[in-house]
Amino acid sequence: LYIGIDLGTSAVKLLLVDGAGKILKCVSRGYPIAFPRSGWAEQNPEDWLRETIAGILELTDGCDKAQIAGIGAGGQMHGLVALDKDDNVLRPAILWNDGRAAEETDYLNNAVGRETLSRLTGNIAFAGFTAPKLLWLERNEPALFGRVDKIMLPKDYINYKLTGVHCTDYSDASGTLLLDVEHRRWSREMLDICAVREEWLPRLFESFAAVGTLTPAMAGALGLSPGVKVAAGAGDNAAAAVGTGTVGSGRCNISVGTSGTVFISRGTFGPDKNNALHAFAHADGRFHLMGCMLSAASCNKWWMEDILRSAQYGSEQAPVTRDRLGCSHVYFLPYLMGERSPHNDPAARGALIGLSMDSTRADITQAVLEGVAFGLRDMLEAARAPDLRIERSKICGGGARSPLWKEIIANVLNLELECVETEEGPSYGGAILAAVACGEYRSVQEAAEKLVKVASIVKPDADIAARYDARYQVYRDIYPALKPLGK
Ligand code: XUL
Repeated sequence: LYIGIDLGTSAVKLLLVDGAGKILKCVSRGYPIAFPRSGWAEQNPEDWLRETIAGILELTDGCDKAQIAGIGAGGQMHGLVALDKDDNVLRPAILWNDGRAAEETDYLNNAVGRETLSRLTGNIAFAGFTAPKLLWLERNEPALFGRVDKIMLPKDYINYKLTGVHCTDYSDASGTLLLDVEHRRWSREMLDICAVREEWLPRLFESFAAVGTLTPAMAGALGLSPGVKVAAGAGDNAAAAVGTGTVGSGRCNISVGTSGTVFISRGTFGPDKNNALHAFAHADGRFHLMGCMLSAASCNKWWMEDILRSAQYGSEQAPVTRDRLGCSHVYFLPYLMGERSPHNDPAARGALIGLSMDSTRADITQAVLEGVAFGLRDMLEAARAPDLRIERSKICGGGARSPLWKEIIANVLNLELECVETEEGPSYGGAILAAVACGEYRSVQEAAEKLVKVASIVKPDADIAARYDARYQVYRDIYPALKPLGK
């Protein structure tokens, strides 16, 4: 048996999976997120650890624990976890959707220069990446910065506590902007630029490699054998791609979670010429291109739960019938936490445009779902290139549970969407990585091809897609028109 973990932003989700890929049990445990200022986002690594341990205990309760062979995690990317020499967490983790490092991002992109960054890492700086956060910490919290002894990414903190090994994997390390992605090694020049000492950094592994086994203390606490292997795991998007079978070359996966991502697997390294997409390592040993919007399902959650105070997602969406798709004149910009791809603008903010006296609650619900779909289209447009034809995509994430939202996305993107049997992208991917680390499969590709099955397909409709195409051209003009007002 294998345990797959998805250390997400709203919750940790855990799966118990057998060697044939069958899901035996799922558990989800939430933890808080703090927004100390507009555009900032923090979480407490101890909360992640406590809920992960409780989650493993709940997941394995009643099963034959001796059968558990491996654990693998996908985790929210880019978050800065810093420990002192006694392994105390120095401060709350600064998350992937935190935009505080705007000045440091400008410094990296303009003073160090985009060309230098691209040459060293394959990417330019975005505020959510780890390197600008380290510069922010050095400038704003120098006393804490002086006490840094280890840095790591969110799921690496869990793996460190499970195994005692200070490790990371290439996919997640790609999002630090400290990794030379093409050559899969830390970039010494980037470490110098960011005042980072190499001994602070975790050891690098392929996602499907075992980094070690449980420490005796952790094995005791979890009631598991100390021989349980822990895979290096992956960034949640790479893990989700594994979990939806998006491996090899030229496949696409769209995730509609707290963030929204368009992920394209690549056999070889090739940065995006316009730097709109990230060029990162994949968990199958190869590479990928990815666009990330900072607020996707979180826009819908904000609208439903914070504004409408409604938990009835289905009934709020029920009035949005098929004949209304592509016909509404209300637009929503989904930039509630600023935006990463393609605008790279932490100061961007959301907007509702086109309201009239007859606009209804359902019109705005529809606009929110459509605004996120248009944001995904922005990234797909950036990904489309002469050598890259994308005709279909897998889809996963909490937002993909809404049939209406999937239909909107399929039509806005004019793309066939394949839904796989298990919607638990990153945690299923984590379990697959654990199975490969334990030798159950020879490669991630082999495991994904054997285990991941398409359950249903959502096809675009030519008329609806054409209507959305016209709306998308309007949507594209709104952000540049509003941008000067935000200053
Ligand atoms: C990807 C990104 C997000 C987080 C979400 O670059 O920042 O998708 O990984 O957990």
